[in-house]
Amino acid sequence: MLQRPRRNRKSAVIRDMIQETHLSSSNLIFPLFIVDGEKQKVEVKSMPGIYRYGIDNLLHEIESCLKLGLNSFDLFPAVEESLKDKYATESYREGTLYLRAIEAVKKNFPEACVITDVAMDPYSSDGHDGIVENDEILNDETLAVLGKMALAHAQSGADIIAPSDMMDGRIGYIRELLDQNGFKHVSLMSYTAKYASAFYGPFRDALGSAPKKGDKKTYQMNPANSREALIEAQLDAAEGADFLMVKPGLPYLDIIKLLNQNFDLPIAAYNVSGEYAMLKAAIANGWLAESAILETLLSFRRAGATAILTYHAKEVLEKGWV
Ligand code: PBG
Repeated sequence: MLQRPRRNRKSAVIRDMIQETHLSSSNLIFPLFIVDGEKQKVEVKSMPGIYRYGIDNLLHEIESCLKLGLNSFDLFPAVEESLKDKYATESYREGTLYLRAIEAVKKNFPEACVITDVAMDPYSSDGHDGIVENDEILNDETLAVLGKMALAHAQSGADIIAPSDMMDGRIGYIRELLDQNGFKHVSLMSYTAKYASAFYGPFRDALGSAPKKGDKKTYQMNPANSREALIEAQLDAAEGADFLMVKPGLPYLDIIKLLNQNFDLPIAAYNVSGEYAMLKAAIANGWLAESAILETLLSFRRAGATAILTYHAKEVLEKGWV
């Protein structure tokens, strides 16, 4: 045998020497849930180790992450049911929890990168990402709400705004609105290929944001499709997105690779709540070794993602795996 691939695996030094992809803390974005009230730290039942924080505890959590070299955070609000309405007006109301949280983080940690989520669902009494009229999710009317939300986030100090709603035309609409209002420097991370997935279950539990009626299949993508992701990516790139995101991550590694091969924009992967819950449950039961976490995160890098949104972000640094 002239070729013996095992020679390149014979020692740790050689294995490290030829390692093709690496994971670094700079690749990681930590999603954090926030809730109103002081001294709040409530664990999400289906996501062991993940909490909903009041703003004071959110600041403590971010401080401890920064010390570990984890510098990017994506914030999501759990909104009280009584504050929700058809038009998600709570999302851009002056002084609302979410805007206060963005301001507090940027004020205390100007060096942290704050990513904000634009979509109506946490604030919508219908639990949908858009305005619901006669069981239909209205597209163009929703853009106006998303625009108000994005502008409020920018005014509060967001570094990157991430529209997760999947309405058509929202990247261009928000980009133009931000530019007209002096926020040319605020970036857009588009949820480009967001699939109608069962893997968002624990997130919807965390925020109480599940649809009250129906599903999200008229706006989120069909899990069976990949060519459609190219259409979404072309539109987002043309409309001014700075990042293209694929979500969920693990069941859609092929889509990450597809977008990475066809577009020059950085690709983000969202390792979603259900993927986290799945690994955590198996590890807790002794069915999987903890190294499955790093293996999963590396798979996103191998597929071509530079940024990885993951609930594992802090633990992999705490454990010194990255
Ligand atoms: C909604 C939104 C969802 C997630 C992020 N933004 C869920 C959904 O579309 O219902 C999911 C994140 C996760 O599961 O970790 N705009």
